[in-house]
Amino acid sequence: MESIDYAKLPQHIAIIMDGNGRWAKERNKDRVYGHHEGVLSVREIVNVSAEIGIQYLTLYAFSTENWNRPKEEVDALMELLVNTIRKEVNDLNKNNIRLCVIGDMGSLPMKCQIEMKEAIDLTATNTGLTLILALSYSAKWELVEAIKKIATAVKSDQLNVEAINDALISAHLSTAAFPDPELMIRTSGEHRISNFLLFQLAYAELYFTSTHWPDFRREQFLQAIGDYQNRERRFGKTSEQIQTNLTNVDESN
Ligand code: FPP
Repeated sequence: MESIDYAKLPQHIAIIMDGNGRWAKERNKDRVYGHHEGVLSVREIVNVSAEIGIQYLTLYAFSTENWNRPKEEVDALMELLVNTIRKEVNDLNKNNIRLCVIGDMGSLPMKCQIEMKEAIDLTATNTGLTLILALSYSAKWELVEAIKKIATAVKSDQLNVEAINDALISAHLSTAAFPDPELMIRTSGEHRISNFLLFQLAYAELYFTSTHWPDFRREQFLQAIGDYQNRERRFGKTSEQIQTNLTNVDESN
C-alpha cells in the first residue's frame, strides 16, 4: 500500500481476468471450480479499487468468443454471474459502487439480463467506483455497431462525413460515458488484447503478469499500479518534451 502514489492513480483500469481454467487444472479440479475461485478475486479487486479511489474498473467477464466454449461451462458461467450479482448487489450499494455493463446484453440468457438490469438500476445513483462488466463483449462487435450507427446518420444527412473524428467515434462506443483506461492488466501469462477495448486502449499502459486470476489479489493489484506509476507516458512525444512540461507545471504551481 505504501508504494502507491495516490496523486498518480489511474482513473480507469481495465482487466482481462485470465487463467481460471489453468489454475483449476493445476489443482486437479474442473474449470468451473476455477471460475468460482475467480469470483473471490473479483470481489477483492473491486473492494481495493473502491478503497484506494480508482474511479472506473472494467472487467472482461465474458467475451463474444466465450460463447464457443462447451455448453456446460457457458451455463455455469452465466449461473455464476447471476448468483454473484444477486449476492453482491447490497454490498455494492453499501460501498457506493455503480454497476454498468458493456456488450451485447440482448444475447445473454433472460435471467441474466433481468438480474443485471436490476443491479444496474439499484446502483445507478452511486457516486464512488464505477464497475463496468464486459459481458458478451468484443471490440470488433462494438466497432461494427458504432460504424453502422455513424453510416446510418451520414446516409440520412444527419451527419457530415467531415464531422467524423476520434471523439465522434468514442461517443458511439459502448464506453461513451467513461474515460479511456490508462492501465490494462492481463493475468496468466498471455500477451494478447483478445478483442478487448481496441479503440479505447490506444494509449493505455499494458501490464502482463503470469499470476492466474484466482491468485491475483490486493498485493498483485497494487504491484501493477506501482509498475504503471513508474512508467513515462509520452503519447507520441519525446521524453525531453514530457520532462520540460513537468518542470513548467511544477514552476507555475
Ligand atoms: C478466463 O479464464 C476467465 C473467464 C472467461 C471468465 C471470468 C469470469 C469470472 C472471474 C467469474 C465471474 C465474474 C464476475 C464479474 C462475477 P479462462 O477460463 O480462460 O482460463 P484458462 O485460460 O486458464 O482456460
